[in-house]
Amino acid sequence: MSRLSCARLTLGATLALSLLLAPAFAQHRMHSQNDSQAKNQPWMNTSLSPDERADMVLKEMTLDEKIDLVHGEGMPGWGKPRPNWYLGNGGAGFVLGVERLGIPMIQMSDAAYGVRSSAQNGRYSTALPSDLAAASSWDPEAACEYGALIGTELRAQGYNMTLGGGVNLTREPRNGRNFEYMGEDPILAGTMVGNRIKCEQAQHVIGDIKHYALNDQESGRNEVNVIVSERAMRETDLLAFQIGIGIGHPGAVMCSYNAVNGDFACENKHLLTEILKQDWKFPGFVVSDWGGTHSTAKASAAGLDNEEPEDIFFGEKLKQAVQAGQVPMSELDDHVRRVLRSEFASGIVDYPVQKAVVDVEGGFATSRDIAEHSMVLLKNIGGVLPLDRSALHSIAVIGGHADSGMISGGGSAQVDPPGRPSQWQEHVWFPTSPLKAITAKAQGAAMYFDRGTDPESAAATAKKADVAIVFAYQWTSEGMDVPTLSLPDNQDALIEAVAAANPKTVVVLETGAAVTMPWIDHVSAVLEAWFAGNKGADAVANILFGDVSPSAKLPITFPRSDADLPHPTLVTPPPERRMRGPDAKPSFSVTYDEGLKVGYKWYDAENKPVLFPFGFGLSYTTFSYSDFKATAGSGNEVTVSFMVKNTGSRAGAEIPEVFAALPASAGEPPKRLVGWSKTALNPGESRALTLDIDPKYLAVWDEGSNGWKLVPGTYTFMAGGSSQDLPLSGKVDLK
Ligand code: BGC
Repeated sequence: MSRLSCARLTLGATLALSLLLAPAFAQHRMHSQNDSQAKNQPWMNTSLSPDERADMVLKEMTLDEKIDLVHGEGMPGWGKPRPNWYLGNGGAGFVLGVERLGIPMIQMSDAAYGVRSSAQNGRYSTALPSDLAAASSWDPEAACEYGALIGTELRAQGYNMTLGGGVNLTREPRNGRNFEYMGEDPILAGTMVGNRIKCEQAQHVIGDIKHYALNDQESGRNEVNVIVSERAMRETDLLAFQIGIGIGHPGAVMCSYNAVNGDFACENKHLLTEILKQDWKFPGFVVSDWGGTHSTAKASAAGLDNEEPEDIFFGEKLKQAVQAGQVPMSELDDHVRRVLRSEFASGIVDYPVQKAVVDVEGGFATSRDIAEHSMVLLKNIGGVLPLDRSALHSIAVIGGHADSGMISGGGSAQVDPPGRPSQWQEHVWFPTSPLKAITAKAQGAAMYFDRGTDPESAAATAKKADVAIVFAYQWTSEGMDVPTLSLPDNQDALIEAVAAANPKTVVVLETGAAVTMPWIDHVSAVLEAWFAGNKGADAVANILFGDVSPSAKLPITFPRSDADLPHPTLVTPPPERRMRGPDAKPSFSVTYDEGLKVGYKWYDAENKPVLFPFGFGLSYTTFSYSDFKATAGSGNEVTVSFMVKNTGSRAGAEIPEVFAALPASAGEPPKRLVGWSKTALNPGESRALTLDIDPKYLAVWDEGSNGWKLVPGTYTFMAGGSSQDLPLSGKVDLK
């Protein structure tokens, strides 16, 4: 079954399930509306808008109740336990409700690629492939499935708010959290995160997008001051948020730890009020990253609505500030109204959480499906892949703990393996064994396994086999950046040794983001499997043996070396100055002087060759492009059309990409992604594709008028299979 029809089926099943459950929900709602108490609670009328309902509740609230809504009640393991700790659900935080008014508590959980801390609470969660992996599918439907699964599992575990939805751009390729984000392009990242949030929130959980903004490195994240121009941030990191919010309408935005142009993000009026709330008209609430609040009056006036996970600044201090007239009541009311509005808009008031058993097998199926469509085939020479079962008599599997599992990303994103609570920054290998999955497919071929800790012994094992498959990993996590893009633990030497011993060497990478590959010319094939989730091994085996043809493309550039990065050396604070929590101060700066040139825009502009370009990914079949046409309407609406043909002998899916080069007077990098479409084709089949280009995606930020503008002139549109393989192009004049 193709990825696309499979996605439809899964979504269809979800829809059927919600229709089945609808009477139960409706009953619950009717019940609460017919209740005698409901007469006194007119805001329970679901035909009113979330804004009307929030306003009505707000009028009934006391000052203490208002204060309760603008801060957290603690997190297990964070500071001293607070009096209400026993009301928590075991997640990263919770906010008290107002029981007498029918307003529920907000129970929050981290949920980057699955719900966090499940084993610790005696529960179970599906581990999906990493967010960056999902972005590699370039498929908004896959992002939707991803979000729907997490939303469903959150509710089953008693949560009604997610802390997922990371979309910081891969501006710093060594950022330890890049696996939690959606890549280096704002339009791709924003579209994918927006679809994820839309479908997560449709399960009646409050959605979240984070970390706003420019938290693009973990080194010194609590004290780094990011210096960046208005235009650069609007067109890069902020654009991803703007698009994601526009598509997903999350109930919450999490402000980040770092400072931006002098002010901490959680007390940065320009970011929170002028841009987010005024310019983008965001109606929801701003929640601080954990311990990212640094003041009372300043943060409140800047637009922070909810302090997490405690009440250092937004508890008693805020109450006193309101009573003393230092913080106007109208300002507090705005914070509270926003929290209430998101509660109504997401449906957590009308559809209270009911705990349930997580659908383990359903989760496996979704996780494997997404993994199969997010692994990127980077190299394949001599037809080594797919492996030919009938011709293979022996296979060597080497390294990467491939006998027992596949690695996952750490930090607050970490999903527990079944039944085993994980520790902070522990390297967790999910129990999905590539060796087992490959053995099952290999139809009796002799299997050899070598742990890969000694290159010499691994080479000897590789020599014995018809093909050698090396599993290499690079664990990454929140709270750290990788010192270099090189694979750790002597794995480059391991791969070199295996490749020297066996001419048919296949490398499977399990990495958070890009790594360098000094051995690339010596191996036959490379499959980037990312952090592949709890069914990663089945997905790898299905791709290696050709049961699935790879169809994913890179959402990030793979550079040739650290020296080619905009900042060849990571900017880090001196160790003695490392600070965290509310007492931290901006103590060092990172200047993003590459500005607009994030990811491929940097390598394009600087004429730097790369290892694998943005948008690149091979298939087991081939595609050709022809018949390009680009036209513009009177309102500058651009339509691009072309033909794509499957020219190989296997079915496969292609992701045609459309880039635009703006007129020189725009002062932009050479090109930007403006559209794409994923299309499944049988051998010999052609399809005509027409893409309407959103005029917003052609605009530039004009600092003079403080707004977006379209620069008049000649635009070149290009189409093809990667940012560096664009065989078609055409010019269009825009006014
Ligand atoms: C992380 C957030 C996370 C929060 C709660 C912070 O350290 O930066 O992404 O949601 O902790 O666990």
